[in-house]
Amino acid sequence: MTHMHVAGSIHADVSSAAPVWLDRPTDANALVDGLWSGTTVRGPGGEMHVGGLPVSDILAQAGSPVYVIDEIDFRGRALTWAQAFAGWKVYYAGKSFLSGTIARWVFEEGLNLDVCSLGELTVALRAGFDPARIGLHGNNKSEDLLRVALQSGVGRIIIDSADEIARLERLGSELGVRPDVLIRVTTGVEAHTHEYIATAHEDQKFGFSIAGGQALVALVRCQGSAHLNLVGLHSHIGSQIFDTNGFEVAARRTLRLMSQFKEATGVTLPELDLGGGFGIAYTIDDSPATPADLAHGLSEIIEHECRAFGLDKPMLSLEPGRAISGPPGTALYTVGTIKDVELGGGQSRRYISVDGGMSDNIRPALYAAEYSAVVAGRVTDAPPTLSRVVGLHCEGGDILVRDVFLPGDVRIGDVIAVPAAGAYSRSMASNYNHTPRPAVVGVRDGKVSVILRRETLDDLLALDAGLD
Ligand code: LLP
Repeated sequence: MTHMHVAGSIHADVSSAAPVWLDRPTDANALVDGLWSGTTVRGPGGEMHVGGLPVSDILAQAGSPVYVIDEIDFRGRALTWAQAFAGWKVYYAGKSFLSGTIARWVFEEGLNLDVCSLGELTVALRAGFDPARIGLHGNNKSEDLLRVALQSGVGRIIIDSADEIARLERLGSELGVRPDVLIRVTTGVEAHTHEYIATAHEDQKFGFSIAGGQALVALVRCQGSAHLNLVGLHSHIGSQIFDTNGFEVAARRTLRLMSQFKEATGVTLPELDLGGGFGIAYTIDDSPATPADLAHGLSEIIEHECRAFGLDKPMLSLEPGRAISGPPGTALYTVGTIKDVELGGGQSRRYISVDGGMSDNIRPALYAAEYSAVVAGRVTDAPPTLSRVVGLHCEGGDILVRDVFLPGDVRIGDVIAVPAAGAYSRSMASNYNHTPRPAVVGVRDGKVSVILRRETLDDLLALDAGLD
């Protein structure tokens, strides 16, 4: 996530403006291993196929731009997480991307679901997701949201504040229910990720601080409640994390708190949730661990810490979102204009403008997130040329792929494919510049199915009370 430009102006080669991590590829057409969804290949003529379909077919059926979800890949990842973490409860984090279809896939693959808003909960319930397998998060859950959760029998609620304890006790008593609750704690872990997606350092809005003592107070308060069934602790240290070090510290601090709670009350808390945040590959610079390796590493850490604190191993859970929904997604765009911009010192940068932008993927603008891309419709021998894929919005920061080597003969009408676009793309999309949000389609065995239909201008105009 750094934007270090190593070259000085004496370098005349445009490739010298590339960031340190980005080497000039020998073949700009290549689909680099680990970046693309499982069924993504170059077909015999060189065109990219996903789910058994050439991208030109997908675009003919679904329009451009479009998010394409490889169903086999999505289901495969969900199942791989469930199997790697057998004996744990795996909650798919719906905030990364949720719809009726996705909720059904997740349910069918045997996972649980984590939601954090009335909208997400409503989608899950309307899709028929078993409420007992849903966990509810949020630092400011409304009374409406809590009511729906309690009335529908949501399996667990992760409490985030003292105000929420009071609100839930009142609603639990009013509705005659006693929900299972976990206390979200702040472990003080400084996750090595972008500040906006790190969540366990002290100075942020989530959870109860362990170091400050509020977590223990909250636990004791819930334990004594007639309306809440306290089952455990929850910690989420942040997102796009690649190693287990942060989880190790979080596990140690949460288990220490469990042992303090046991000393204080004689009660052993049965559950520990370590949250989500497992990183994926957006570029050749990212090398995520496999779920099996993570399961092995995390299990060892927990066993070691439990022994150290003399605790029985709790029931464990985790909440991967992006690791399941990110890699199956590919964003397809169409090139509209191409510009070579002089940078001085003989360098230039090729700006390739496509028919989407920060409204369908805000992550580069928000977190300086890096992405990759290829020209998907064809292969070519043209030399790899350092390019920047940008959108159509009226903003200089409207960048989709900051640095990528694309073939030097990119032309208007070419299809640009961006991998790892399944998570936090459509789910964070906006209507900036009155832009309708693209469709999301599933592809499988040569068939396209609509997951979310494309918004139309009429959808947007219908909201405007000042228009006829
Ligand atoms: N559990 C909790 C409590 C969370 O807050 C999150 C993400 C997850 C699980 C799932 O994290 P994942 O495995 O998907 O990284 N919008 C940002 C990331 C912020 C996510 C917030 N919470 C992004 O585009 O990178």
